[in-house]
Amino acid sequence: MVGEVSIKKMLADIGIFGLGTMGENLCLNLVEKGFKVSIYNRTEEKTRKFYEKNRSLAIIPTYNLKDFVESIKKPRKILLLIKAGDPVDEAINHLLKHVEKNDIIIDAGNSHFKDSDRRYSELKKVGVNFFGIGISGGVEGARKGLSIMAGGSKEAFDEIKEILEKISAKYDGEPCFSYFGEGGSGHFVKIIHNGIEYALIESISEIFFLLSKFFDHEKISEIFNEWNKDILSSFLLSATVNILRKKENGKFLIDYILDKAEQKGTGKWSVEISLETGIPAPAIAAAVFSRYISMMKESRVKYSKLYNLSKITNFSLDLEDIKKTLLVSILLSYIQGIYLLKGSSFYNYNINVSEALRIWRAGCIIRGEILNLLYKEYLNYEDILLSNNIKNILLESFQSFLKTLSFAFNNHLPFNVISANYNYFIMVINEKLPANLTQALRDYFGAHGYKRIDKEGYFHTEWY
Ligand code: 6PG
Repeated sequence: MVGEVSIKKMLADIGIFGLGTMGENLCLNLVEKGFKVSIYNRTEEKTRKFYEKNRSLAIIPTYNLKDFVESIKKPRKILLLIKAGDPVDEAINHLLKHVEKNDIIIDAGNSHFKDSDRRYSELKKVGVNFFGIGISGGVEGARKGLSIMAGGSKEAFDEIKEILEKISAKYDGEPCFSYFGEGGSGHFVKIIHNGIEYALIESISEIFFLLSKFFDHEKISEIFNEWNKDILSSFLLSATVNILRKKENGKFLIDYILDKAEQKGTGKWSVEISLETGIPAPAIAAAVFSRYISMMKESRVKYSKLYNLSKITNFSLDLEDIKKTLLVSILLSYIQGIYLLKGSSFYNYNINVSEALRIWRAGCIIRGEILNLLYKEYLNYEDILLSNNIKNILLESFQSFLKTLSFAFNNHLPFNVISANYNYFIMVINEKLPANLTQALRDYFGAHGYKRIDKEGYFHTEWY
């Protein structure tokens, strides 16, 4: 009996599978919050090294999956922090040989929600609980507090709630984690988060590019620092301020970074959601395409020599106009993300949008004052474009937005996301669109039929 108690005492509260930077930092965060953590990594060396460095902490190093699983208290909670895709299926298959009914496998990677739906159903059949949790906040978040979007078995949620709460970021003391429903719903929310992240990053980059034609990096950093207050204050803008200050051997590091933007797929998946549901998110699509175009570096070099369109006129903008342009672009990018979240029923989810906005207020990459405002406005206006406060910001900034836009066009500066946001806005607030001609043409060549404004039903015309 005594022996049993001491063995139980030694068991871990949770196991971490995968000791990349995220896994290591999350492990330290969990230990700091009072949990005993068992660790496992595919290569033994990593586990050994990490354990050597943190010997004094409540960490159990394990070197095979059997020991790993057996070192965790039942129902076991196993947190996968590995690359999304096949590695997750492989890890689950290996773990299934050792786990028991009611154990909980949590995938904290940037997995596709459809994969999480599948894994959830497959594991349910064998009595194992699966959780797909989207975590945002990067390495710092893993160490100090994340925004956590959980989806999976409702019954099992109570088992992991305390852990998620403790490792989550806090906004005014409120923990930034939430349960969004069964299956892959947590990963669905994370994918939209990342779609917004892409559009925000690109909006800032486009403004940076414009400013960089007239100001040096130090000055732009100062400008952004000045803007990074009140409504525009955000994690991404403050990160940009720091990036633009960074020097290496006396030179700005940013100038040495190759202008090819990579991606791991979540932005593209957001656009797929938009295409599948029919909910427009042109700013997110433009942000993904901007990254694709940036990858065409070698071709861009050739074409730029051939077309040689570069042109820069005198700087004739007010910084305030540019600031308002960034504000509008960021605001409209979030708004498109919000409408995408609202379309979750297409995938049989029932995402609580207000909860998503609430937990994005701290810890995550897209945190910022505009988001805080949207969270408050959403409580009264689920059709967010109907909010008077949002309307006032958009209208008040609109002339500045147009000035900056036309300046960018006149100077042949890329404004892919910002102009996508212009078109989105100008279209959604336009009662009339040229879709009547689109319908007529479809009927003209394909007899597809059209609806009329004066009569019910579908009509076809013999046009010639
Ligand atoms: C986060 C980030 C994080 C990661 C992105 C990067 O919320 O912490 O979104 O998950 O930085 O996945 O994605 P790309 O490599 O596609 O830019």
